[in-house]
Amino acid sequence: MPQTPAFQDAARRIMARCDELARYTSMEGGIERVYLSPEHARVNRLASRWMREVGLDTWQDEAGNLNGHLDGKDPEAPSLLLGSHLDSVRDAGRYDGILGVLMAIEVVRALKPRSKDLRFGLDVVAFWDEEGARFGTALLGSSAMAGQWNPAWWDLTDEHGTSLRTAFREFGLDPGRVAAAARRPESLAGYLEAHIEQGPDLDRSNAPLGVVTSIASARRFSVQILGEARHAGGTRYEDRHDALLGASEATLAVERLCRAEHHIVGTVGRLETFPGAVNVVPGEARLTVDLRGEHDDDRDRVWADISRSIDEIAGRRGLRWNATQIHEAPAVWCDGLLQDVVRAGIEDTARGEAPSMFSRAGHDAMAIGAITGVGMLFLRNPDGISHHPDESVSLADVETGLRAMTATVEHLAREAA
Ligand code: GLV
Ligand code: MN
Ligand code: MN
Repeated sequence: MPQTPAFQDAARRIMARCDELARYTSMEGGIERVYLSPEHARVNRLASRWMREVGLDTWQDEAGNLNGHLDGKDPEAPSLLLGSHLDSVRDAGRYDGILGVLMAIEVVRALKPRSKDLRFGLDVVAFWDEEGARFGTALLGSSAMAGQWNPAWWDLTDEHGTSLRTAFREFGLDPGRVAAAARRPESLAGYLEAHIEQGPDLDRSNAPLGVVTSIASARRFSVQILGEARHAGGTRYEDRHDALLGASEATLAVERLCRAEHHIVGTVGRLETFPGAVNVVPGEARLTVDLRGEHDDDRDRVWADISRSIDEIAGRRGLRWNATQIHEAPAVWCDGLLQDVVRAGIEDTARGEAPSMFSRAGHDAMAIGAITGVGMLFLRNPDGISHHPDESVSLADVETGLRAMTATVEHLAREAA
């Protein structure tokens, strides 16, 4: 393994590059980098320079993901895929996803001198649209790579009414070729992703790194509640069908029903009213519901409870409602061997136990799990602040994480021997 100063330098480079990438944004005073945007193209150009610098051959695939490859001992052997995503939510932090891509590049730099001894090639991927910030549906890039593209997605639109099909063309991608982004399962020896925890558990247990056992199942809905827009002065309470009040009760029901369950969290992250005037009773409300759970059946049971509750609210208030599912991902279990080697890599470097944990946040590994075994290493995320500009990770933890990830790949190479 390279000497400590090399890992120190690499960790410093990663932190500096996270700062550099934060400047590629469409948002004044904050970070926002969405799928198929000008920032996507610019960041792919920059990251492909960084990949080539460590010896990777690079290409952008038919879904806009940036890829790199380095041969191992046998150029025909499958590759271990390392990576994460470069897109962000609105007003994001600078480490979610980005850190995993930059760590993957540094792992390749560390292993390059011995790459001809490895029984697998090393591939790095920078996925796009893990977050679903532009079109509502998440994991588009990794779903394309997993060969799970859903043709219904072409008609999804962004907030300006641009369809995904049009956005592909404007970016210079051919929608007819998206299937070519799929990777054959036989071409992969596994997928390994490093990511900040996006929760406080490692921080609270004073551990720098953790082993992910599974990734939460998720469902997202767009809910429309229809009432009647009426004069705010002239309409008596008994004559109102106020869509916002129905939506407010529905929002509280999401919290109440999720809190009653272990390991289920539900969030209403967006709420809009129409016509949205100060002197008009809202005639329509639109809200989003994001549900996560360790197990798919608990998540689905809670959604059935929420639906029954909204039926009751709508019946009582004289409202109509409907829901469209905009994202669904089953829980994904990390591969047993990859969990073992991540644990061994952490124990080699981080001194002490390697806590195991399930991920409440979604990750590209969920989609890639359809074609190969996946493993994840979490880094301590102070206070668990994520999807927020104050998101952070320490330089020391990045260095430890990098050593652990490099050791993980070496353990896997020995296992595969
Ligand atoms: C992605 O970060 C998600 O879990 O929403
Ligand atoms: Mn995220
Ligand atoms: Mn992420």
